Amino acid sequence: MNFIKVDSYDKLSEMAAEIIADVIKGKENPVLGLATGSSPLGTYARLVEKYEKGELDFSSCTSVNLDEYVGLDGENDQSYRYFMNKNLFSKINIDMNKTFVPNGCASDLSSEGEAYDKMIEDLGGIDIQLLGIGLDGHIGFNEPEDFFTKETHLVKLDESTIEANSRFFASKDDVPKQAITMGMYSIMQAKKVLLIANGKAKKEIIEKAFFGKITPWVPASILQLHSDVTVIYSEN
Ligand code: F6R
Repeated sequence: MNFIKVDSYDKLSEMAAEIIADVIKGKENPVLGLATGSSPLGTYARLVEKYEKGELDFSSCTSVNLDEYVGLDGENDQSYRYFMNKNLFSKINIDMNKTFVPNGCASDLSSEGEAYDKMIEDLGGIDIQLLGIGLDGHIGFNEPEDFFTKETHLVKLDESTIEANSRFFASKDDVPKQAITMGMYSIMQAKKVLLIANGKAKKEIIEKAFFGKITPWVPASILQLHSDVTVIYSEN
């Protein structure tokens, strides 16, 4: 594992964007695994800058996002599809038909999960998976449990996740209680994993996840078994 500590969110974002840019430049049809939340906002802004400067071309990229809230469609401004369109896809030259986010409104979420995994497999897997980390150690929405789940699946969000994510909603009651998330298989099969985290509040979970025991009670700890993981952490 490559653990990099930097002293600002700006540096973290620049470094993360560089790593993703290198993958895009180095591969003919790159498959980007993407995340939402606060952590990647700076990274996406840097990628957009690189695109605007003519340094990056997203036309051959496909993207697959980690997760989506159950019951929110892409028009809903709290959905992760909306987040991705607003913060990245609408600002770069990626083909919208090649951007995938799990469908949280699918009538059969278990078939949706199976189809999502098959689609990733058919794409040849993920070239780089960008991740944030929850205060409880979740990656995607793989919450602490007594087992790791392999497939893309339906999850009940933890109270701490609902609390943390309520900052984006009018009230805590508005936060969906369930989500559909990529499971550990597609994440662990990604050729490269890049996890970014910032803020003092994440310090303890970062230590547990990357320097503690590998346990499904700290889902991100499974990444210690991946052969190409970069973690960028800024306390600020
Ligand atoms: C989002 C996701 C989550 C977030 C995590 C951290 O797609 O998969 O695992 O990465 O909840 O969120 P932030 O970055 O808002 O602290």
